Amino acid sequence: MEEHIQLDMKCMPSHVAIIMDGNGRWAKQRGMERTFGHQAGAETVHQIVEEAARLGIKYLTLYTFSTENWNRPTEEITALMGLLFEHIEEETFMKNNVSFKVIGDIDKLPNYVLGKLKKCIEHTSRNTGMSLVLALSYSSKWELTEAARQIATEVKDGKLQLSNIDSDTIQQHLATKDMPDVDLLIRTGGEQRLSNYLLWQCAYAELYFCDTYWPDFKEQELRKAIADYQNRERRYGKTSEQLRSDD
Ligand code: IPE
Ligand code: IPE
Ligand code: MG
Repeated sequence: MEEHIQLDMKCMPSHVAIIMDGNGRWAKQRGMERTFGHQAGAETVHQIVEEAARLGIKYLTLYTFSTENWNRPTEEITALMGLLFEHIEEETFMKNNVSFKVIGDIDKLPNYVLGKLKKCIEHTSRNTGMSLVLALSYSSKWELTEAARQIATEVKDGKLQLSNIDSDTIQQHLATKDMPDVDLLIRTGGEQRLSNYLLWQCAYAELYFCDTYWPDFKEQELRKAIADYQNRERRYGKTSEQLRSDD
C-alpha cells in the first residue's frame, strides 16, 4: 500500500501550474499510437482537477496545447481537439464548484471546440471554488507580445502615460490578469524546461520536475509535489534570518 502523504492544509500553494508532458512516450512504451497516450492523459486531468479542488488550491493552470503544438502532425492535432471537446465536462465542474477559464489565442481553435468552451466558461462563471484554467494555443511570448501591443495602443491613444507604466501595468495586460503569480510549477515527463509557459507569472515560482509521464501522474503524485513545495523556504530575495523575524 502507498503511504499517505500528509500536507499542511494552511500552507497550500494558491496557484499551481502544470506542464502535462509525456503522453506520447507513455503510449510508445506500450506499443500504442500517441493518441492513446493523450486519451489516458485526459483521464488524469479529471483526477488531478478533483484532487486539487479537494485540497483547496485556488488556481490550477494546465498547459494543454501550446502555440508550438500547432506544428504537430495534422492527425494528432485533430485528435487532441476531439479529446478536448469530449472532456470539457460542465457537470463535473458544477459538482466541484469549479470555475472554468481558458488563456491563449483561442480564435485559432476549431469552431465546434470554441463554442463548447465559451458555454462552459459562461455557465461555470459563478462557481466560487477553484479556478481551472486551460492554456490553449498559448505561449508566453504570444501573451507578452499581445500585452505590449495593447499597452502601446493605450499610450498612443492618450489613455496611458508612459511614465505610469510599471510591472502592475504589464500584469494587468496579461491573459492571467485576475490571477496571482504561480507558486508551484510542476512538469511531468522528465524534461527540465519551461517550453514558453507562464514565464512572467513564474518569476518566483518553485519548480518541480518529475520523470512520471502525465498519464501516470495521479493524486498521490500531486500530493508529493505539494509536500516538496511545503518543505521549501521562499525567500523572495531576503535572508532566512529576515524571514524569521518577519513572522
Ligand atoms: C504532452 O504530451 C501533451 C501535449 C503536448 C499536447 P506529449 O504529446 O508532448 O508527449 P511526449 O513528450 O511526446 O511524450
Ligand atoms: C509542452 O509540451 C506543451 C504542453 C504540455 C501542452 P511539449 O511536449 O510540446 O514541449 P517541448 O516541445 O518538448 O518543449
Ligand atoms: Mg512532450
